[in-house]
Amino acid sequence: MLEVVQTYPVVIPAAGIGSRMQAKIAKQYLKIGEHAVLEHTLNSFIEHPKISDIIIALHPDDNIFDTLSVSKHPKITVVLGGNERVDSVKNALGLLNKQLKYNESFVLVHDAARPCLTRLELDTLILECELAYKQKHIMGGILANPVTDTIKKGCTIVSTSAQKKSFNTITHTVDRRDLWQAQTPQMFKLIPLIEAIDSGLKKGVIMTDEASAMEAANHQVIMVEGQSSNIKVTRPNDLKLASFYLD
Ligand code: CTP
Ligand code: MG
Repeated sequence: MLEVVQTYPVVIPAAGIGSRMQAKIAKQYLKIGEHAVLEHTLNSFIEHPKISDIIIALHPDDNIFDTLSVSKHPKITVVLGGNERVDSVKNALGLLNKQLKYNESFVLVHDAARPCLTRLELDTLILECELAYKQKHIMGGILANPVTDTIKKGCTIVSTSAQKKSFNTITHTVDRRDLWQAQTPQMFKLIPLIEAIDSGLKKGVIMTDEASAMEAANHQVIMVEGQSSNIKVTRPNDLKLASFYLD
């Protein structure tokens, strides 16, 4: 008997301007080897048999995406991004919400600026989220990494001398045993995620990822341990690191 493969849509927020990268173009278009960061990111999903649709949110002034060879791929649909990452994600989710076939579905959200995601990480996240839903009715989860550095809570003091120099001092050391660094993909049931984001926006919740919206709406969220190589290309040195991981 032919087994039906469960498929999922993925949302890629790619409407940022990459201010911390300080490059002439947005960081998702900087090259690693032959391809732009965004092309490496997209390839993980284009090639994956369980990914049916890719909704990508672009900046209104973007004139580079159309020049990429992947831009015409049949899995890809473009929407306009918004002022913040959460607005870009909301626009893309809105498009999926119009397609009845995804009413009960999970959706994945993955930063355009994370080009080093491995197939194993993606497969593990999908499997664990499906299990958590079936066994505990949990609405989804994220890739995350236990913190390895010693973490300091800091505060800034300013000297009273003429130069007004400021120093960052340590308030205390934070117990890192329960601390994790959130990554993407993040995978949640579509409708609960849309509702959580809408409610978070109304309440002024700071939502730097989808999990923060789900947490604020009192949903349980699982964390699936990923690799430290799944970096978000943010500052100039990250490009060299991403290139090393992709090699
Ligand atoms: N993003 C988006 N819409 C925004 C802001 C960010 O779609 N209004 C996307 C970025 O393109 C990126 C992801 O969200 O893929 C994570 O954001 P971040 O790393 O902060 O990227 P930028 O906002 O572009 O960078 P910076 O904060 O340094 O300006
Ligand atoms: Mg940003």
